[in-house]
Amino acid sequence: MNESPSNNQDCARIWQQLVAHQSEIADLHMRDLFRTDPERAEKYSIRIDDLLVDFSKHRITDESLGLLLSLADACSIPVKISDLFKGEKINLSEQRSALHAMLRAPAEQELHHDGENITALIHSQLSRMESFVQDLHAGAVHGSTGKSISKVINIGIGGSDLGPRFAVDALDAFRMGGVEIEFVTNLDPKDLSSTLAKSDPETSMFIVSSKSFTTLETRTNADAAREWLAASACNAEDHVIAVTANKVAALEFGVMEENIFLSWEWVGGRYSLWSAVGLPIAIAVGMKNFRLLLAGAHAVDKHFKSEAMDQNVPVILALLNIWYTNFFKAESHAVVPYDQSLRLLPEYLSQLVMESNGKSVSSEGKFIQHKSSAILWGSIGTNAQHAYFQLLHQGTHLVPVDFLIALQNESCPEQHLKLVSNCLAQSEALMMGQENKTEPNKHFEGNTPSTTIVYNSLSPEVLGMLIAIYEHKTFVEAMLWNINPFDQPGVELGKELAHNLSQDLSHEEMEVSGEKHDASTALLIQEYQRRNK
Ligand code: F6P
Repeated sequence: MNESPSNNQDCARIWQQLVAHQSEIADLHMRDLFRTDPERAEKYSIRIDDLLVDFSKHRITDESLGLLLSLADACSIPVKISDLFKGEKINLSEQRSALHAMLRAPAEQELHHDGENITALIHSQLSRMESFVQDLHAGAVHGSTGKSISKVINIGIGGSDLGPRFAVDALDAFRMGGVEIEFVTNLDPKDLSSTLAKSDPETSMFIVSSKSFTTLETRTNADAAREWLAASACNAEDHVIAVTANKVAALEFGVMEENIFLSWEWVGGRYSLWSAVGLPIAIAVGMKNFRLLLAGAHAVDKHFKSEAMDQNVPVILALLNIWYTNFFKAESHAVVPYDQSLRLLPEYLSQLVMESNGKSVSSEGKFIQHKSSAILWGSIGTNAQHAYFQLLHQGTHLVPVDFLIALQNESCPEQHLKLVSNCLAQSEALMMGQENKTEPNKHFEGNTPSTTIVYNSLSPEVLGMLIAIYEHKTFVEAMLWNINPFDQPGVELGKELAHNLSQDLSHEEMEVSGEKHDASTALLIQEYQRRNK
């Protein structure tokens, strides 16, 4: 199963050349590539502002990179990038555009879409967010008992949770305004109840964040939150705001019109933290910092749109991922930030990457004959070194790694130096290995590829840049695999079955006929019923 994703003759030819080239260079060791080319590190690294992306520790030669870049060209990647920014309906299955990059474009960059000035729409929501955040920080937003709101609880799931949760955590050093932020996402009632147990209804406000406003988990938690408010005689109107593309449903739920912030169909949930979905971020760090986050992402948008393919960070990173997934048959990709601020990055990326590119059907609706997204996983270093790094160093799987690290820490330079040395030591060890002919378990094969991304320190701009790099990388991969990264039909079946199952679970007696459910599921239903009599 390794056919070219495209019928285009040039793509298919280059795909086959890459297959042949991979078998020619599969045994080359990176330490020899470094030895024979003193320019390698400089040649294979790219800077965007303060960010340095070093991709020299990859199993590529000039010829490999040349072939991969020709693949990008033959697959019309420059045209696809331009279509993305022009607002073409590239989400073919849903006939929608994917306009997340417009969310961080300056007001002067006007774009009209389906007869609407979307730049104006976006900036009017940003202004509303600004006033809301200012009022909240000034203590001017009151609950129904007249007390200022001091805690905001975001109820959402997937893209309506992971992005804001990650960014709020990552930008902890930039906290201002004194409003506490909590996130509730899980259908498991313990998530909400543990948050409510430490909250005061009179001074709490909920953001019900759901693009569709129909998501079971979010609606269930929102209903429970409303009951909790009512039990303390607090009106939902004064304590609940909504972020949604479904204004009607939010109004029906009881949110006041002036408390509804808009998201739109042309922004996918996992690409939406730049919109009002990011309201918890703006509350946590202030609107000025939120705008800096947008500015960082916009700098990467400009880079992605205008840089040549061979200097284009998202394009290069996507090509490298294709190289390992489709030609080296790597099954997974680890992301290991050596930065406590980025501890939630792997979790955030797991949705961005795998919900976008975990597909087996092409943009034309046919089953594909090549691998798509690798499994993305990871966690922060140095913790990871004492957990799964054994497998990275001496296991039997090829796992390319992304390392991310801030190079400056003025408050704790000595400890930080130890952190940096550990990060660099790991990528060096993974690449160089260490031969031991007499004791196999002390032999390190090395040749494990990694990308290292460094920056001064994690500012809102840097965070915006990093996220935008991964967003665009995910897009380029999808275009190379000829799949649609903007839909998620794979989540529907489980939702449907859960709906039916909840009815079966609540029936007094369920027949194990084997017709409605498989025998295993029927057994589990009965077990539930028996234990809940
Ligand atoms: O899991 C499916 C999904 O639609 C995600 O794509 C989305 O981020 C999440 O559910 C939440 O959706 P909503 O914002 O509509 O509640």
